[in-house]
Amino acid sequence: MLEIELRALTRARRLARLTSRRPWICSPCRNTLARRPQWRAMGTAPVVGDKKPFYVTTPIFYVNAAPHVGHMYTMVLADVLKRWQVLLGNRDAKLLTGTDEHGLKIQQAAAALGMKPQDLCNENCQTFRNLASAANVDHDHFIRTTDSEHKDAVRYFWDMLNHRGYIYTSKHEGWYSVSDEAFYPISAVQPIVEPQTGRKLVASIETGKEVQWTSEENYHFRLSAFKDRLLEFYRNNPDFITPRNYMTGIMRSVSTKLEDLSISRPTSRLKWGIPVPYDNSQVIYVWLDALVNYLTYAGYPFPPNAKSIWPADVHVVGKDILRFHSIYWPAFLMALDLPLPRRIMAHAHWKMNHEKMSKSTNNVVNPHFAIDRHGLDTMRFFLIIDGPQTTDSNYDNAFIVERYKKDLQGILGNLTSRLMRSKRWNVRESITIAVEGRLPETISENLRHKEFLESMPDRVKAEMEQLDPRRALNSVMEIIKETNRFFHNMSPWALTHHVDLSRPSELDWILYNTAESLRIGGILLQPFMPQKAALLLNMLGVSEEVEKRSFSAARYGADADYGVPSLDLKRGKFNGTLFPPLLCED
Ligand code: MSP
Repeated sequence: MLEIELRALTRARRLARLTSRRPWICSPCRNTLARRPQWRAMGTAPVVGDKKPFYVTTPIFYVNAAPHVGHMYTMVLADVLKRWQVLLGNRDAKLLTGTDEHGLKIQQAAAALGMKPQDLCNENCQTFRNLASAANVDHDHFIRTTDSEHKDAVRYFWDMLNHRGYIYTSKHEGWYSVSDEAFYPISAVQPIVEPQTGRKLVASIETGKEVQWTSEENYHFRLSAFKDRLLEFYRNNPDFITPRNYMTGIMRSVSTKLEDLSISRPTSRLKWGIPVPYDNSQVIYVWLDALVNYLTYAGYPFPPNAKSIWPADVHVVGKDILRFHSIYWPAFLMALDLPLPRRIMAHAHWKMNHEKMSKSTNNVVNPHFAIDRHGLDTMRFFLIIDGPQTTDSNYDNAFIVERYKKDLQGILGNLTSRLMRSKRWNVRESITIAVEGRLPETISENLRHKEFLESMPDRVKAEMEQLDPRRALNSVMEIIKETNRFFHNMSPWALTHHVDLSRPSELDWILYNTAESLRIGGILLQPFMPQKAALLLNMLGVSEEVEKRSFSAARYGADADYGVPSLDLKRGKFNGTLFPPLLCED
């Protein structure tokens, strides 16, 4: 107790010294500051190492329009990363998603509908909550930037930047895009003619979105002061941004043109935002407000305790918002000596008819329709396996149907049915023979397949550690495809005529290897397709106990007890088929 009081006293003295040297800190603010505990300096956060809960985030979504498949993609990627950690079972994992509700974009959208911004936000944030639940995104919290804890966190964050001398006022002139909620320098815009209307306008070169000239007095953050520290940080952490090729553009941009950042807007232009502390004539820039959401959920501004989840392990972001996450965000955090996020996983965009799928272009796919049409796990599978990483991907229903028919129904579903529904053999008996060590000496094909299965889980794990769920899912599918070839080449159905079924034989090897492939593949598939993987494991009769379905069980020979389906494969909702025939194929 005494120690806590002494620490508080020292902190108060330190703050008093700090604030007396900084005359711009107003007195109410000094008082609040003295009462608030501080987060420790960067690199000294008390909870580090592997046991800190794994913390993954999605971007928070603008609520000015309904969600589309691009948003679902970002959510599913983050969900797969979280579920992978749960599968590993080494530590707790947290996933944060939510909505970004302030800014001119929302103010204008509400005005166009004759609504109050808060009412629009209340209504539309629900559509993103619905998407998270429809897409089976296992989030631990849904944050809204209009939440009062978040507003407090942002104001405190601002105070801190101010107290450390990183904020100043100045006239700001530049091109502002409402759609991107970003200022652009003259070098980043160009005049264009809008194809649809023939209207001449100025647009951002990077995003193609219209910009407007603005000239106003506002607050600035000394971003340029962080150039060297940012570059040093990138050099020391070459894996900070994944895939790596995105790093080149970011480093170039920091080394060539890192200007101070305007971080507020006058209320004459923008009312819908968090007021700047002690200056009601300005509101805080929506991106500064939004980025702090990741800290709000981690408990900021309260100091980390044993359960702290900060720093984030991964921020999943689209390439259009990479600059905000990999330049502005680290610089803000450096300014406050807070630990930086460990990694940023960027992805490219889904396109429709060769244009970025976006609500402003109006070429979006409604994710709920897509889920109804193709099934949730088929959509999750398609988004991950064909999703854009470094280059954009085209969205097409025909691609989804092809994936379904070829990989899911044609290989995974078919192989499971052939193994588990055949009347010619008893899978459980072969498993018993194998686990009792009664398998006979065998031919190289069986031994090779066993070795292949022994190597694959670690490969998938390494790919997930590299934040490459697409490659990891391809590897899981390689297990299934390779086993399908193995099963076909070994033709166990032909052996049933020749072998003595009462004695262990080659047939048991084939059936055991195939069952192990499906069991290991099914366990590894869970983060990607949670429902179908559960069904697959039920068809194989794998116990629902956590340890029987966790990564440590995805090892050849790790489960002695499965082989009797835990559901009726002949009747019931699924009719024994993992991927039933499609009713509509176009
Ligand atoms: N509100 C900001 C993010 C703030 S995070 C502190 C924002 N919102 S957004 O709703 O416009 O976009 C959210 C995410 O969806 C971004 O990562 C963006 O890249 C992603 N996508 C938007 N359209 C997309 C596609 N067409 N394809 C893939 N992802 C897409 O930006």
